[in-house]
Amino acid sequence: MPLLHQLNPDEWQIVLWDEDRPTTASWIKENIKDAEGALVLLTEKINEELLEIAGPNLRIVSTMSVGYDHVETTALKKRNIRLGYTPDVLTNAVADLTVLLALMATRNAGEGLSIVKDGKWPQLPFGPFVLCGPQIGSGVDGKKPYTVGFIGFGRIAKATLKRLSPYGISRCIYANTSSARGPHPTYASTEGDQSLAKELGVGEIYAASLEYVAQESDLVIVLAPGGKETYHVVDARFLGKMKSMAVLVNTSRGTLVDTDALVDALKEHKIWAAGLDVVEGEPNIPAGHPLLRLPRAVVLPHIGSATVDTREAMARLAVENLINGLLGRPMEHEVRL
Ligand code: GLV
Ligand code: GLV
Repeated sequence: MPLLHQLNPDEWQIVLWDEDRPTTASWIKENIKDAEGALVLLTEKINEELLEIAGPNLRIVSTMSVGYDHVETTALKKRNIRLGYTPDVLTNAVADLTVLLALMATRNAGEGLSIVKDGKWPQLPFGPFVLCGPQIGSGVDGKKPYTVGFIGFGRIAKATLKRLSPYGISRCIYANTSSARGPHPTYASTEGDQSLAKELGVGEIYAASLEYVAQESDLVIVLAPGGKETYHVVDARFLGKMKSMAVLVNTSRGTLVDTDALVDALKEHKIWAAGLDVVEGEPNIPAGHPLLRLPRAVVLPHIGSATVDTREAMARLAVENLINGLLGRPMEHEVRL
């Protein structure tokens, strides 16, 4: 029997916001009152104030996202409210977009697109080095060392590495954000790292400090959860240690990268380029934003998981988590609070 039919419709009332845009603050406040479960997106801030309004009946929050930095987990825990989320089903879509941004930023595709769209192609000379940039991977002879550095090395990072491996990756280093703020590299290569390196044909894979990842990587990919712990892990100091031809990609949360410091680093040519699917303060990034004036910043409006298949799978999983939670059963993906 389909899960939805296991809820007796006489006992449950469903209130639905059915517009393709975030709920308004007043709507959610009005409708979460006395609710037992809530299915939300990352645009809904689930905090003390809202839980207070919801009242003591609320038992389940189910977010249709892998990230849950919009949810105050301590407030949920205090009230014994369970939290469901939707990892795995979006891994491939986000990994695809991460590679897309890495390629676009490395290969000057953002600037190239603007030139064509702005009608400036006729003025563009086809000089031997016009719009030339670095190249992802081991290069023309397949022998150039190429290091990919990850901040956060979870499922999406591994799926991204898998997609990058055919380009020829001699080394993958990663910083676990909770433990890597110290100054010294750790060079810890787990058995899992070693078997993954073998499987993907990547020279070596090991954990290191943030500083080491900054210094050594040709491509830095930020794929860690948002929140206080990872706030501005990529700051002026980090960017200052990066190679001048290195590329930064962020497909996790805007809060991990200090945007002002990134703008400076790009302006001063401290790094080559950046590809961002997320920016702190999104979606309020107006046309005049300094980031958008930089030819080497490729910015997309948070579309990492935006494929029809993926969003349908996320929606289904979020509904299942909600219903299982309401029925007092284990959820397929529940955050341990
Ligand atoms: C998207 O950013 C998500 O967390 O699902
Ligand atoms: C993060 O949750 C990931 O799946 O990498």
